[in-house]
Amino acid sequence: MAARIILGVALLALVSSHASASDPSPLQDFCVADYDSNVFVNGFACKKPKDVTADDFYFTGLDQTASTANRLGANITLVTANRLPGLNTLGVAMSRVDYAPFALNPPHSHPHASEILHVAEGTLYAGFVTSNTAQGNRLFAKKLKKGDAFVFPQGLIHFQFNAAMGSMDGIIDTVSVAHDITPLMFLLEPRGKLIMAGAPAKPLHWTPFLSSWVGEKSVAGTCAGGVKDTQEMIDFAAEHNIAADIELVSMDRVNEAMERLGKGDVRYRFVIDIGNTLTAA
Ligand SMILES: *[C@@H]1O[C@H](CO)[C@@H](O)[C@H](O)[C@H]1NC(C)=O
Repeated sequence: MAARIILGVALLALVSSHASASDPSPLQDFCVADYDSNVFVNGFACKKPKDVTADDFYFTGLDQTASTANRLGANITLVTANRLPGLNTLGVAMSRVDYAPFALNPPHSHPHASEILHVAEGTLYAGFVTSNTAQGNRLFAKKLKKGDAFVFPQGLIHFQFNAAMGSMDGIIDTVSVAHDITPLMFLLEPRGKLIMAGAPAKPLHWTPFLSSWVGEKSVAGTCAGGVKDTQEMIDFAAEHNIAADIELVSMDRVNEAMERLGKGDVRYRFVIDIGNTLTAA
């Protein structure tokens, strides 16, 4: 009956980007893609306007983390006219990219499109190279953090990689089920420490790829620290505004909480408000 407790570790960098290349003078309000048409034009053929609904302009799922367990360590969730019919002929598209700590989106270009990138989470090193000009091929690149945006001008070769690798001196891992700690080891800087505060019943997995292995990194474990240490830790967290996602339950609902815990039906840690002094946020 392991409850799954996940501490927000800046493990993945997450960006959204969109590319643009459009018809300068459309002849109608929209040309929603008709996926069933056999006609091949510049884009999909247009669906009859009277059959178009709001859902043709709608896409959901960009909040979903995509698996990065592949060779590049990156996963691109594309939102193009292939998946969002209302985008047809508008010349814009969007995507979500998830990057594991070591991931690289290798240099590539989109000949007809410019691209703007927004970092939603983590740190990313991104840049582009100019065409062969009198100054040679110039590199314009920058380390980006959450909230930053960066633009790649039309057709130029560009790249991104997750710059979180080797950037953390310590990580507290509270995941109490068996998991792969390889990406976390990549995140540690030399002499960094991974502290296991959760105690999985099954063995942890670690593939010692070179840079997750070198640099005198260490893995340590800890159990509950006793009342005094716990109080100190909570005071420290409060002072520095370090908070956790919890589900607050009152004392009279404790049996219900135990049942839900047994069923694995709790996303975060339950906190019991014994004195009824707290109100749920
Ligand atoms: C990308 O993520 C999706 C959703 O997690 C997954 O189904 C797909 O296999 C992933 N693709 C790659 C190449 O890893």
